[in-house]
Amino acid sequence: MQTTEGHTLEVRNITKIFPGVRALNDVSLKFSRGEIHALMGENGAGKSTLLKIITGIYKPDDGQVCIDGKPLKLHNFEDAVSYDINIVNQEIQLIPESTIAENMMLDRIKRYSRYGIFLNWNRINAEAEKYLDMVGLRLSPLEKVNKLTAAQKQLIQIAKALSSKSKYIFFDEPTSSLTQYEAESLFRLIRKLKEENHGIIFVSHKIEEVLSLCDKISVLRDGKYIRTEDCKNITRQDIVKMMIGREEEIDNFGTFDRNDDVVLRVEHLSRREFFDDISFELHRGEILGFYGLIGAGRTELARAIVGADRHDSGKIYVNGCLAEIRNMQDALNKYGVGYVSENRKEEGLILPFSVSDNITMPSLKQYRGAGGLLDLKKLSDASKGYIENLRIKTPGLATAVETLSGGNQQKVSIGKWLAAGCDILIIDEPTVGVDVGAKRNIHNVIWDLAKRQGKSVILISSDMPEIISLAHRIIVMKDYKIMGEMLLFNRDKTYEEISYEIGSLIV
Ligand SMILES: Nc1ncnc2c1ncn2[C@@H]1O[C@H](COP(=O)(O)OP(=O)(O)OP(=O)(O)O)[C@@H](O)[C@H]1O
Ligand SMILES: [Mg+2]
Repeated sequence: MQTTEGHTLEVRNITKIFPGVRALNDVSLKFSRGEIHALMGENGAGKSTLLKIITGIYKPDDGQVCIDGKPLKLHNFEDAVSYDINIVNQEIQLIPESTIAENMMLDRIKRYSRYGIFLNWNRINAEAEKYLDMVGLRLSPLEKVNKLTAAQKQLIQIAKALSSKSKYIFFDEPTSSLTQYEAESLFRLIRKLKEENHGIIFVSHKIEEVLSLCDKISVLRDGKYIRTEDCKNITRQDIVKMMIGREEEIDNFGTFDRNDDVVLRVEHLSRREFFDDISFELHRGEILGFYGLIGAGRTELARAIVGADRHDSGKIYVNGCLAEIRNMQDALNKYGVGYVSENRKEEGLILPFSVSDNITMPSLKQYRGAGGLLDLKKLSDASKGYIENLRIKTPGLATAVETLSGGNQQKVSIGKWLAAGCDILIIDEPTVGVDVGAKRNIHNVIWDLAKRQGKSVILISSDMPEIISLAHRIIVMKDYKIMGEMLLFNRDKTYEEISYEIGSLIV
């Protein structure tokens, strides 16, 4: 049933100030039903803040949110839901110890029990199952959330928002932890919602996906509204220019010298149901790419190498010696191996701690001065260096990491391991949720680590252009196994040739 009621959602002159930052500055924008509207901008531009204001999670310092011209009374998220507005948040916000169904139906469970209504669990579970099915998850609603992968958690958040049947649904970077296949099925779902006259607001850093999915695009830069354009009339270059205020620079990394020193050798490493008989060597100064679809077993393999998870059989050698790595401290302190987790929020960072503390924590030893006391000047200089180098957008060194935007938190987590001075760095999906400019920074940092500092890097990435432009060698994994390897030292193949070869290994 189509209805014109609640046809436009509008923000008028919204300003939001956090300590030290004007996150939004007099932003006015309109969203319509029956339309997929992209919201783009660099990390820290104010996208999530705007969405949180419209969904009652934050209160603006000035301005209004209106539906069909009428201002809404938004005190909390429940108010937004009562106006038919819902959000799939950028952060995973599920209760790990609860079941999928409990998480999905939480708001309703709270409401029902408040009125003393008897809960029909069979109905709740059946309802949850219906929405799980809609997002393509074949999971029992009775399963606990803490057992699931990042992608599965994200899909559950999406199913949860869909189950509210709200007229307006906001998606804040929903595809950052999804495979291409999962993302495509999400896009089909979003197109269907559009046909059913929902209004969709879609935040993403992936320009290609925005251009193929969305009708309109609005850009924020430094908390200010720049412009809204029709997606039909706009190119990738136009969007980048709107976001960063200048033309995009394209990187072209050069060729590599092959070094025969083996710094890490993995022999027949297996863990049942996670990875199977994995053997490879990593050379000094090399960037070794691990490509595969999410779920191929790459993260599990990386975690086993650094001792964060166990393995059933196989051996690991660091610089020729058999390594007994029991945990990540061992990996770092005894063997100089660091792991930048794909799951930065849950295990990479201590969110209430400052940017500086997070960056320097694993490497405090290096900042001891005379008498064993910490040399605070050296510490803050080092942090400043990484903030500059990675262009971390923060009001200061002492700012709590939890107040930074998603992409900037990611950069802090990378800075932390760079500061720790590892010789071997395993970096898992380093640029998920990172804007175009910052992505380029991170690529340059990785390149510099290998080429100029002689460090060895394992780069796990599902981003084909990223891995092709950076890696010296690519190992392709599928279904827990290595399917093949490609040498890119000479850069004598075109992007199309390499991507075709990779593709043929995983289909
Ligand atoms: N709770 C908070 N406390 C203090 N500052 C905050 C808070 N939330 C956001 N900010 C600041 O507001 C600005 C905008 O952040 P926001 O999360 O809206 O960015 P974003 O556009 O969503 O970025 P990203 O692409 O990285 O997700 C940033 O400078 C951020 O540090
Ligand atoms: Mg955000």
